[in-house]
Amino acid sequence: MNRILVTGGLGYIGSHTCVALIEAGYHPVVIDNLRNTRISVKQAIEEITGKPLEFYQLDAKDSAAVSSSIENIDGVIHFAALKSVGESIEKPMEYYTENLESLLSIIQVANEKKAKSFIFSSSATVYGDTEESCVTEETPLGKPLNPYGHTKILGEKILQSGKQKFKTIVLRYFNPVGAHESAKIGELPNGIPNNLVPYITQTAAGKREKLTVFGNNYATKDGTCIRDFIHVVDLAEAHVAALNYSEEMIETVDVFNVGTGKGNTVLELIETFEKVNKLKLNYSIGDRRPGDIEAIYTATSKIESTLGWKAKKELPTSMKDSWEWEKSLWK
Ligand code: UD1
Repeated sequence: MNRILVTGGLGYIGSHTCVALIEAGYHPVVIDNLRNTRISVKQAIEEITGKPLEFYQLDAKDSAAVSSSIENIDGVIHFAALKSVGESIEKPMEYYTENLESLLSIIQVANEKKAKSFIFSSSATVYGDTEESCVTEETPLGKPLNPYGHTKILGEKILQSGKQKFKTIVLRYFNPVGAHESAKIGELPNGIPNNLVPYITQTAAGKREKLTVFGNNYATKDGTCIRDFIHVVDLAEAHVAALNYSEEMIETVDVFNVGTGKGNTVLELIETFEKVNKLKLNYSIGDRRPGDIEAIYTATSKIESTLGWKAKKELPTSMKDSWEWEKSLWK
């Protein structure tokens, strides 16, 4: 178990996972179409790890090109997908096409190349507008709030129904934040960020005038939404733990939530960002964002007991690393 095809391997979570894989002794075989990232990320991964990265600029939807370009692989981590909620509402067909065609194509490659494991990037969004704030893997899937969320539910269903030759692990990510401590890799949002932390760092950097906090009249301790913010390096390491476990797992498919187990409010995150970085953020309270869930975080007992994985980095570290990364983009 050594050669791992990583689709979307130059993206935010993908790049941190490549570093974690190399540090754990795996050989990532990376494909990315560079739609939402830059080729400079390849060099950054090489600088961090001190190893050359096997990389192909390919689209995951093109199974023939992927198959003919790469040699046999032992496993797959499939990140490549579109992930903007707002864009998915504007262009639903593009989201279904990109996210589902790429998944079907990579399943075909995995079978052809005799991969033994397949790790799929899913999201907490599959729980929809859940009644419970603390969800477990047993929490019923909700009604998807948008086409992006729907592609994740459908992706999970495709992998669960396929009777594949490989073992499948579905990882449902909570809210990834932070960046590698070297500040060489991090999140590279395209245009105006949708997600909270890139919006905060760009506001602090003066690229955006002001952050709007979407609503402070939720039934939470300070009225703002609660999320489970997980450091991207911890999240990356969960993929290594999943690959290791896939070699010994008995079930054909298993699902794990990946989060810290702790919920923080939007205002707590902002205060932490201000405190650790010793700056003041320009923000004001605005209306609720349609479709937002009041509070969601995950129980961690399943992933801790089965994969032996636990998030190690705390929110102050995440907020410091996010800011160091933003500052590195000025150079
Ligand atoms: C969102 C998506 C989720 C997707 C995830 C990818 C929705 C409803 N959910 O999660 O499907 O998997 O991104 O990372 O869009 N906030 C502000 N001001 C901002 C931006 C965000 O107050 O400018 C608040 C939001 O209201 C929310 C929290 O910050 O309460 C986190 O927002 P965000 O980073 O967009 O993540 P999610 O909404 O949790």
